[in-house]
Amino acid sequence: MSASHHLTLAEARTLDGRYVMHTYARKPVLFVRGEGMRLWDDTGREYLDFVAGIGSVNLGHAHPAVTAALAEQAAKLTHVSNLYYVEHRAELAADIVELAGGGKQVFFANSGTEAVEGAIKLARRWGKKHHGEACVNIVTAERSFHGRTLAALAATGQPSKQEAFAPLPPGFSHVPLNDIAALGAAVTADTCAVMLEPVQGEGGVYPCDSDYLLAARALCDERGILLILDEVQTGCYRTGPAFAYQAYGVEPDIMTLAKSLANGLPIGAVVATTEVAAAFEPGDHGSTFGGGPLVCAAGRATLSALAAERLGERALATGAYMGKELHELMAATGAINDIRRAGMMAAVELAAPRAAECTAFALQHGIVLNNIGPHILRILPPLVCGNAEIDTLIGALYEFLATDNVRST
Ligand SMILES: Cc1ncc(COP(=O)(O)O)c(C=O)c1O
Repeated sequence: MSASHHLTLAEARTLDGRYVMHTYARKPVLFVRGEGMRLWDDTGREYLDFVAGIGSVNLGHAHPAVTAALAEQAAKLTHVSNLYYVEHRAELAADIVELAGGGKQVFFANSGTEAVEGAIKLARRWGKKHHGEACVNIVTAERSFHGRTLAALAATGQPSKQEAFAPLPPGFSHVPLNDIAALGAAVTADTCAVMLEPVQGEGGVYPCDSDYLLAARALCDERGILLILDEVQTGCYRTGPAFAYQAYGVEPDIMTLAKSLANGLPIGAVVATTEVAAAFEPGDHGSTFGGGPLVCAAGRATLSALAAERLGERALATGAYMGKELHELMAATGAINDIRRAGMMAAVELAAPRAAECTAFALQHGIVLNNIGPHILRILPPLVCGNAEIDTLIGALYEFLATDNVRST
């Protein structure tokens, strides 16, 4: 097949079925182009992307500043070993540290799960140095999601995702979210860290209560252990501030970032206070591609455009509008049991187990949505989304939900 041949959906499905491992239940659409919130398939049909990649293109698709930074850097240098200095790595680290209030250092990885692995290694290294060899355990929340590699999977509080891959690395325990007594009881002398998502994303958009996160911070201080906040999904202005924790008035010792940090290019980051970061010594951790000049050029362009376009403020405003409209939809249809939202992250919990059907209906109507389990729709629009696009989404959801069979189930 020549490089200029345009693959059809039918050809893609056949090739994918034959040559690609079946780890995803893919939807029947072949996307070939994107711009802002819009995507186009191989037939030229237009869609609105209400999941922003998967929370990973907060600036929208093909943002011109990111495209220009990529093109310029790709023509100059894409890769040398991490044994050498390159342009953009330290500058991107400085940009992140500045957004996080200073006094921190960054390790670059290639994905969210790798950022979490790095955070786990750093916390264990710190725990051993400060509290002795046994101080390696990490407490996380039930229903949390921290990634698919083995330690990140062990940290994830979802037995259904873990069971097929046992035995997982030891050293992780899970507590119900927003229960400070349970967290206090789970922390022992061998605990080096507590790890939380400020808003659980993949688990179904469950925010930490404000009191809970403050109490978790106080508990970690009292016991002399670390608070790790996994901001892979909530970071990069998704909930309004640059990082979701900034609205809670807590400071993590370690934060993980990925997803939208380079607006769709593979990147991950472990951000730690300078004191905690000092637990890593040369040779302790590494990555062939992490922090390369191409992805870091994209990261700098991304952070700069997110700030210049004031997309955090827009996330708050459009998110509030989305929340209001979803609640009106709930009242109008009687088909929704719960709505959970933080900025531009929302979950709509349907009364009937029809989330997959609703996602398929939306796709047929040019709207890309995500479903988690049988009842939950997840909405993660790019932050460039406006009220008009929210109206289009609400119209499609109304069309699907305002039917008797949904209400009566
Ligand atoms: C909070 C959180 N942590 C970690 C990950 C894993 O990121 P990745 O898929 O880039 O490995 C995700 C992905 O959804 C996430 O939401």
